Amino acid sequence: MTATASTLLQLRGVRKHFGGVKALDGVDFELRAGEIHALLGENGAGKSTLIKVLGGIHLPDSGEIFLDGSPAHIRSVSDANRMGVRIIHQELALAPNLTVAENIYLGREPCRFALLDRGRMNRDAVGLVRELRLSEIHDVTAVVSRLSVARQQLVEIARALSSQARILVLDEPTSSLSEAETESLFATLRRLRAQGVGIIYISHRLEEILRLADRVTVLRDGHSIGTQRVGAINQRELVRWMVGRDIAQHYARAAHRPGGVALEVCGLRNGRVQGVSFTLRYGEILSFAGLVGAGLLHRTRFGQHLYAMGGNREAARFTGIPLARIEITVYVICSLLAGVAGMISAAQLYSAEPASGEGFELNAIAAVVVGGTSFTGGVGTMYGTLIGAVIIGILDKGLNQAGVHFSIQYIVKGLVILAAVYVDVQRRNRHR
Ligand SMILES: Nc1ncnc2c1ncn2[C@@H]1O[C@H](COP(=O)(O)OP(=O)(O)OP(=O)(O)O)[C@@H](O)[C@H]1O
Ligand SMILES: [Mg+2]
Repeated sequence: MTATASTLLQLRGVRKHFGGVKALDGVDFELRAGEIHALLGENGAGKSTLIKVLGGIHLPDSGEIFLDGSPAHIRSVSDANRMGVRIIHQELALAPNLTVAENIYLGREPCRFALLDRGRMNRDAVGLVRELRLSEIHDVTAVVSRLSVARQQLVEIARALSSQARILVLDEPTSSLSEAETESLFATLRRLRAQGVGIIYISHRLEEILRLADRVTVLRDGHSIGTQRVGAINQRELVRWMVGRDIAQHYARAAHRPGGVALEVCGLRNGRVQGVSFTLRYGEILSFAGLVGAGLLHRTRFGQHLYAMGGNREAARFTGIPLARIEITVYVICSLLAGVAGMISAAQLYSAEPASGEGFELNAIAAVVVGGTSFTGGVGTMYGTLIGAVIIGILDKGLNQAGVHFSIQYIVKGLVILAAVYVDVQRRNRHR
């Protein structure tokens, strides 16, 4: 494959295997500035792996990457970001416990002195959402876990477009978008193309590709089968490239008659749905479709990254946050705090021994659980934990003063934990 004057990116002979699976077996790919280049292939063809190599998530076994004709060494997500590569991954990569604005600027939060400039971040996010005409995102301060999957997809798109991209990659971006949202995304992509951005567009929807892309490259079993101008190839030929043989219809349809009624639901109603009715027949696949469209940690960049890591580790990794550094810092801070606790304990007891903290574990767990942090994970707050610690502290002292035997004290604390878990389960069930 020869590079032309406008070649922005070139991948040559890229190989990547996972154990015995050859995901990429010598793939060549070329992207020009100001083009939308579709990447097409059946499930497992290697499309996502190829863009993960480009995005610094996977290191290739061999092969070369050239940016503007010069070798590019992309060894991490930060390397890729620095080179202007932005990727919207197939699997949603958002931190569910952070807000829309916090997710958009994750890893690049605006700060004033050492503290997060939340006001600016929210204002910038509102401006960006307006500029991209993502009208479905109504509130940039909404927590992402409360948004529908389609709206989360839009947040991903806003994040990828929030900083200058030279190469934008979208892996199946329209899988959960409505028609109107898809059209608005296409308009944005055409605008970016006109500005000279190189766009790699992955989709299974052939009509979308034929309508949007300038060129298409087909991957099959980890090999690049060919590249063609979209006007010079039709849908049937593309399918032949994808599956390796000529088939009249990509998905053959066989005549089928469903049987009797297996399940009938009438007027189902709860807090979220109103009057839903449907019947399911034997031998029938029924699908449901919905139309979309009809403290300190809280104030610092470090805290933000820590929340993101706790909410969705993989998402945090995709944004280039240094996970290992954060993890080590947290361990160091915990160890220092444990050291301080040890000094306070030694000052109170006039003696110090390595095992003097033993027996406090149940108190610590009870304080955190009473403070609102679920056993099964979830969002806890520092204030909640403090209140939990005060409650357990008072209970502990009260039981000691009353001369209650240690074994009974453990049972009481165990019951307090069970009560907190019960309240948490009830609360979750109500929200469901
Ligand atoms: N992290 C991984 N570990 C092991 N195998 C993997 C991993 N990632 C991908 N694979 C395998 O590599 C091959 C290519 O996968 P990839 O996800 O790149 O395909 P794809 O073309 O994106 O498919 P789809 O259209 O389903 O998204 C598949 O056989 C897949 O099972
Ligand atoms: Mg994929």
